Amino acid sequence: MSPVDCSLQDSVCVRRRRLLSALMKPPCLLFYRLWFLLLLGAGSVLLLVCLQDLTETVFQQSPGAQVLLSSRWPAVKDAAVQGEDGLHLQQASISVFSEPSLGSKPPVTKRHRKLLKSSYAAASSPPTGEEALQQRSLARTLEARRRLLTDICAKYQPGVTEQRVSQRQVSRVYVEDRSRLLYCEVPKAGCSNWKRVLMVLGGSANNTRDIPHDAAHYANRLRRLESYKRAGIIDRLRSYTKVLFIREPFERLVSAFRDKFESPNSYYHPVFGRPIISRYRANATRTALRTGAGVTFREFIQYLLDVRRPVGMDIHWEPVSQLCNPCLLRYDFIGKFESLEEEANFLLRSIGAPTNLTFPDFKDRNPLAERTSSKITQEYFSQLNATERQKAFDFYYMDYLMFNYSKPFEDLH
Ligand SMILES: *[C@@H]1O[C@H](CO)[C@@H](O)[C@H](O)[C@H]1NC(C)=O
Ligand SMILES: *[C@@H]1O[C@H](CO)[C@@H](O)[C@H](O)[C@H]1NC(C)=O
Ligand SMILES: *[C@@H]1O[C@H](CO)[C@@H](O)[C@H](O)[C@H]1NC(C)=O
Ligand SMILES: *[C@@H]1O[C@H](CO)[C@@H](O)[C@H](O)[C@H]1NC(C)=O
Ligand SMILES: *[C@@H]1O[C@H](CO)[C@@H](O)[C@H](O)[C@H]1NC(C)=O
Repeated sequence: MSPVDCSLQDSVCVRRRRLLSALMKPPCLLFYRLWFLLLLGAGSVLLLVCLQDLTETVFQQSPGAQVLLSSRWPAVKDAAVQGEDGLHLQQASISVFSEPSLGSKPPVTKRHRKLLKSSYAAASSPPTGEEALQQRSLARTLEARRRLLTDICAKYQPGVTEQRVSQRQVSRVYVEDRSRLLYCEVPKAGCSNWKRVLMVLGGSANNTRDIPHDAAHYANRLRRLESYKRAGIIDRLRSYTKVLFIREPFERLVSAFRDKFESPNSYYHPVFGRPIISRYRANATRTALRTGAGVTFREFIQYLLDVRRPVGMDIHWEPVSQLCNPCLLRYDFIGKFESLEEEANFLLRSIGAPTNLTFPDFKDRNPLAERTSSKITQEYFSQLNATERQKAFDFYYMDYLMFNYSKPFEDLH
């Protein structure tokens, strides 16, 4: 297998296993529970929606499986998805968050205040003048991001924070016990470098420079939150600093496309490329059908938006709102890829990381290719027509909303 980002191989295996176990478990119990809730609430029409969405979640998790339904965004859907998770792992039956989610004022936790206040307290010399101003401004920005997310969650996924957390919902979260950090991995938003930093923080490497890309992903000693027992998961979610780094959704999508389909790839070409070409290209050549190489951006988008995808979702293009469960996990620190180094270093100083540890700037994948910028992103999207662009925007709409990215094209609504 060729190197792939962010532990794809293990995630694929785990997903396959999960798919099987999910399929083999009778979902009856779940439906009874949901049925109760729904009876009290909106009534039987909603049950149909839930049924459909459950089917979707199960299938979306595995490449090779058909996705039966589109992933649009009614709030009901998310409630149903969370409900499914709570049940299909029996271990996960403790409510993690006791804080109420009513109203739109985000509770500023003690930990959070400390995080913002202590930033740079640990730095070797106290910041002066302009630097101090910048830090205060960044702290305010971070607080505004958190507040916005809380508001959006209260509006679109009410009640989610009171739900039980399952292992699957924390499956993308990495643990660093020494610095008491939880990091949700978002592929194409700096995750390789984050893994390097976590390894140095945890003492399994001396320097981020010593860690090659593959080691960051496959030979890493990082543990995932899902690998702990229930109590260990809950403890860490309560007391650790929870970190999420995101990226402009279309840019992340184009970055993933270029990475996986524009250079040789022994996993993505056969597993995704072949079915995509065979479904969306009229008159495909035998070679293209055999190798799966040369998928165009338009074909890729057709696959992404297809309610009956010939092959499932993938973490590299899955919306962050689904990958990292931000409404449930309530991240303390929401950083942006667009100012990755500044914000990552701010975080490192505020958790008291060694002063000689700074966030690295390695570009692992296709180092010779130009980094995906907003200009490049616009070029790729100009290959689509207005309808396709709108549908792609709808697909990532929650990510745009939750993380306050402005709409990338004027004609979108
Ligand atoms: C870190 O460096 C020390 C001394 O240079 C060395 O003994 C140790 O093995 C190194 N640790 C790792 C994980 O490479
Ligand atoms: C930071 O300094 C310590 C001790 O001086 C050293 O062992 C470590 O390798 C350095 N780490 C980095 C990331 O340079
Ligand atoms: C496919 O090939 C046939 C025969 O060469 C041709 O008539 C047809 O127009 C082609 N279709 C497309 C979509 O290119
Ligand atoms: C845009 O492209 C899709 C195919 O992906 C096509 O079905 C649709 O008719 C096109 N819309 C417009 C407005 O051209
Ligand atoms: C969203 O971003 C814009 C700038 O793009 C900013 O002016 C606004 O204050 C932000 N909104 C929130 C709620 O953070």
